Amino acid sequence: MGIYDDDNYIVSAMDMEDDGRVVDSERTDYDEAENILRPKSMEGYVGQEKVKENLTVFMGAAKLRNEPLDHVLLYGPPGLGKTTLAHIIATEMGGQIKVTSGPAIEKSGDLAAILTNLNEGDVLFVDEIHRLNRNVEEILYPAMEDFSLDFIIGKGPSARSVQIPLKRFTLVGATTRAGLLSSPLRDRFGVICRLEMYSPAELTEIVTRSANILGSEISPEGAKEIGRRSRGTPRIANRLLRRVRDFSIFAGHDEITLEDAQKGLKRMEIDELGLDSTDTRLLTSMAKKFNGGPVGLDTLSATINEDSATIEDVYEPYLLQLGFIARTPRGRVLTVNAYKHLGLPVPRGAQVSIFEDNDA
Ligand SMILES: Nc1ncnc2c1ncn2[C@@H]1O[C@H](COP(=O)(O)OP(=O)(O)OP(=O)(O)O)[C@@H](O)[C@H]1O
Ligand SMILES: [Mg+2]
Repeated sequence: MGIYDDDNYIVSAMDMEDDGRVVDSERTDYDEAENILRPKSMEGYVGQEKVKENLTVFMGAAKLRNEPLDHVLLYGPPGLGKTTLAHIIATEMGGQIKVTSGPAIEKSGDLAAILTNLNEGDVLFVDEIHRLNRNVEEILYPAMEDFSLDFIIGKGPSARSVQIPLKRFTLVGATTRAGLLSSPLRDRFGVICRLEMYSPAELTEIVTRSANILGSEISPEGAKEIGRRSRGTPRIANRLLRRVRDFSIFAGHDEITLEDAQKGLKRMEIDELGLDSTDTRLLTSMAKKFNGGPVGLDTLSATINEDSATIEDVYEPYLLQLGFIARTPRGRVLTVNAYKHLGLPVPRGAQVSIFEDNDA
């Protein structure tokens, strides 16, 4: 098994009985690229004002009390900056960060080894924390609450419990699904932060910042175009920027223009609102095959041949945000705005979205 250090390289293959499977998130070019663009401090972290304000207060107070920061749970859709924030927290608190993830920790012994290796004030970042298995999770309860590992040794009348003290650390958990966290685990986080989707203006700022880091000039209009079509998500903004930048370089431009952005996005089949072909397939299939719903997630997933967790985590949040679909107790329904956006006739009785005024 292994964990990652600050730069996410594998730092320790701790002497465990198993054979290195824990390192399931292999480094890819894509991750490397992402690291370059990660803001390293709260000042560089765009948006999420409420979360930043709260964390700044809690971190400042913890420092004044000379204590580690309370455990923090970060949740929200993929690509909104949870991992980035975890690194910033560690930096601001002056500790080291150890990175692991729920599915990577298979046995309670794995977690025990990670915990006993932490120093005072370190951050243990557990990504996908909703995927910890039960036995592992139970080790975490006393570790989070009393900074101690509790073991039972032996069986029957001779069984006794042993406690091993731990250094005072901060657990930062991240999940796209806060709802899947068990309540005893959730209750042990002192700070719970929900990350929101970013506004087009914030995404424009991120695109401008990233272009700068990548050493590219970008016009304000070009940045704005990418920002507003990034479905509220910095990771997507950065990805679109890279592709558009390729188009721009290839066209021989020394600045990324609005036209580059428009052409590049069109080539990538990203529409005016940032929807891609899967979004469109999902909406169209709801309209044509299910008469606008209600339709259950699993049925939809089977129809468009897309994993239901992916639909729920990746596609739905933005479609809900746009007010193109609504959730009802009987399933998902398509709204009037979605029909309009697809250019389809709006059937009578179609759900009116709350955002009806913002013409799609
Ligand atoms: N607030 C922000 N300001 C600037 N850039 C950001 C911000 N948040 C995220 N990013 C950029 O978006 C990329 C993705 O962010 P990050 O990896 O932190 O997302 P995540 O929430 O951990 O996603 P996942 O759920 O998939 O793990 C980062 O590389 C970073 O460059
Ligand atoms: Mg992450």
